[in-house]
Amino acid sequence: MCGIVGYVGRPSGQVSTEHQALDVVLEGLRRLEYRGYDSAGIAVVADGAISSRKKSGKLSNLIAELEANPLPAATTGIGHTRWATHGGPTDQNAHPHLSDGGKLALIHNGIIENFAELKQELLEKGVTFQSETDTEVAAALLGDIYRNQLGGDKANGGLTKAMQLACQRLEGAFTLLAVHADQPDVVVAARRNSPLVVGLGEGENFLGSDVSGFIDYTRRAVELGQDQIVTITAESVEITDFFGAPAEGKEYHVNWDPASAEKGGFPSFMEKEIHDQPDAVLQTLLGRSDVDGKLTLDELRIDPDLLKSVDKIIVLACGTSAYAGQVAKYAIERWCRIPTEVELSHEFRYRDPIVDAQTLIVSISQSGETMDTLMAVRYAKEQGAKTVAICNTNGSTIPRESDAVLYTHAGPEIAVASTKAFLAQITAAYLLGLYLAQLRGNKFQGEIKDILSDLGKIPEKVQSILDDAARIKELGESMVDAKSVLFLGRHVGFPVAMEGALKLKELAYIHAEGFAAGELKHGPIALIEEGQPVFVVVPSPRGRDSLHAKVVSNIQEVRARGAKTIVIAEEGDDAVKAFAEHVIYIPETPTLLAPLLTTVPLQIFALALASAKGYDVDQPRNLAKSVTVE
Ligand code: G6P
Repeated sequence: MCGIVGYVGRPSGQVSTEHQALDVVLEGLRRLEYRGYDSAGIAVVADGAISSRKKSGKLSNLIAELEANPLPAATTGIGHTRWATHGGPTDQNAHPHLSDGGKLALIHNGIIENFAELKQELLEKGVTFQSETDTEVAAALLGDIYRNQLGGDKANGGLTKAMQLACQRLEGAFTLLAVHADQPDVVVAARRNSPLVVGLGEGENFLGSDVSGFIDYTRRAVELGQDQIVTITAESVEITDFFGAPAEGKEYHVNWDPASAEKGGFPSFMEKEIHDQPDAVLQTLLGRSDVDGKLTLDELRIDPDLLKSVDKIIVLACGTSAYAGQVAKYAIERWCRIPTEVELSHEFRYRDPIVDAQTLIVSISQSGETMDTLMAVRYAKEQGAKTVAICNTNGSTIPRESDAVLYTHAGPEIAVASTKAFLAQITAAYLLGLYLAQLRGNKFQGEIKDILSDLGKIPEKVQSILDDAARIKELGESMVDAKSVLFLGRHVGFPVAMEGALKLKELAYIHAEGFAAGELKHGPIALIEEGQPVFVVVPSPRGRDSLHAKVVSNIQEVRARGAKTIVIAEEGDDAVKAFAEHVIYIPETPTLLAPLLTTVPLQIFALALASAKGYDVDQPRNLAKSVTVE
């Protein structure tokens, strides 16, 4: 939710400058555009002045504007790509926002909750505003403090001190980056409840919402804590708290390379990420068990005795990650016999949930920055629960604030609609479930080994679905005029059906709903009319027989009312053929692991249909990959 980049290099003329601020910032914005693409803007400090350009719409609009109206050469700059919260996606509301007579530029990710009160105060002082944003209020406040409280004097602490004082007044969630014409070689940033990392270079330093903001230039990153301010120059990085007390960041090495965040020859990141899935599952499994099937989850630093005493698990997540949690619930309850609830993070803390020291909270988040999930985890911690994060982003906030983390090793996921992270999340949650079963003695080691061996076969099975994707693509393309698509599933197939519907809503803007197949007769069946496309995720006939038979009956029920049925079934399941317009076969696999396969055709279908409509599948309208506001 909003991408931000900051850069300071050595001033030209002094020592050779390796990079231009404009190039570094634009490259960072390009990589961070998945975080929001309602508008983009950039400010550089050159010749003792701030120069800025901003444009509504995607980054390409800003680039066109920069070609028409170039910025001067500079070695200090900040850039922003926006997901609108306060004020629509217009040029005026785009960041940066200026203050102090155009000498100060500020960009912001988050929401300033007390902006109305601050705005009133500033209006009374005679400040005027050009936009409807909370960010412009923060910029005006910072400018007012710098000019009127500190006398615009570097000796009084300059921009860093002004930022500290401003942050003491701001409420809400924010990452702020500011530059000032009086301090041309400095970017000052602050963070509260919103992501910010520092990149360490040689004679240059960087800031980004995440490491992809500077991955082309350095792999050395520094994590910042809550309520910290960082001042970067070409040669230094200084961190304080909001009151000026020195603070430390934690340096770490970024272990993925820039190429893994590129499209790798695919037309879209989403298609590439769908094809990354065999590897995402493989990498998530790798190194986590020995030859006897004994799991060693070293990252789970929670006292094993505490884990043994857990009497309830609550999974907290949003969006696709919540569906991964719903899939995992079936496996965790089956393997560990621990009651497991799955709750949307944003609903959790407002219902007075029953949480105590025996509760294990498992948060699932690709980004590790989803504000709803972060707040829910914090709430659960306050109630004494132990917290484990399943996360794909190293060093992000949710794992940092949790007692333990189990990383999914899916690699960077750039397309806004989640694909490979989903499969990796299910895999990691299964590992956690098996680990708990091992620890608590719910399963024999041999049984765990067998399940791990089945999980180990998933990558090649996913690959076989990908190799055979042409028919699914054709099907998607052929349904380009569909107005509504329904998805049915039972047991683990139910969350898969909901995920299939979500993919179609996100990418193709088509009305789509996922239903529990058994619920159909209690209402949704009224939606069925002649030609209505209905996907049905059919459980294995080798599993619980009655379940398979019941889903086959559900197919007949909708078909009898005119539905066009598209069935996802296991190889060899001939019984479904008679009731399906189309059958998509997936390789045989145990029922609980089937979502790792049945989801894949639904992703391919949504991608093909949306592409046939000519939509941008990587950056669907109105969405953002990482939602860092509540
Ligand atoms: C946003 C994204 C979804 C994602 C959800 C949760 O809504 O558009 O694709 O599933 O956030 O994100 P997380 O990073 O917490 O998994």
